[in-house]
Amino acid sequence: MTEKVKVCKEGELKIGSRKVISRDGEGEIGVFNVEGKYYAVQNACPHRGGPVCEGQIQKEIKADWRGPGNRIEETISSIPTIACPWHGWEFKLENGEHIGDSKIHVKTYKVIIEDKNVYVIC
Ligand code: FES
Repeated sequence: MTEKVKVCKEGELKIGSRKVISRDGEGEIGVFNVEGKYYAVQNACPHRGGPVCEGQIQKEIKADWRGPGNRIEETISSIPTIACPWHGWEFKLENGEHIGDSKIHVKTYKVIIEDKNVYVIC
């Protein structure tokens, strides 16, 4: 069964900010406004349960190895990620996928705006 949980009024969660909400007996969910787009992530890292939502938001860095003796070409993508503060595992905010292993995920939730309020569907 899904539940619609109110996070805040639209506009309270400014661009670049986050809010962690607590659910009775269901843990915490971090809600993020990254460049005007909302994301929601369970605040429990799949590695060792760290508070992943306290981590730094950044953009995924892609590295292109061009063989021995050549520089690695790095590019910064437009995909926002969050890095767990405990050991640095990094996840894509849009789907929770670990950036180095697509089999590992942190749980993500849908965010909706309704009646000028921000809600998480969980
Ligand atoms: S608990 Fe998150 S990286 Fe280890």
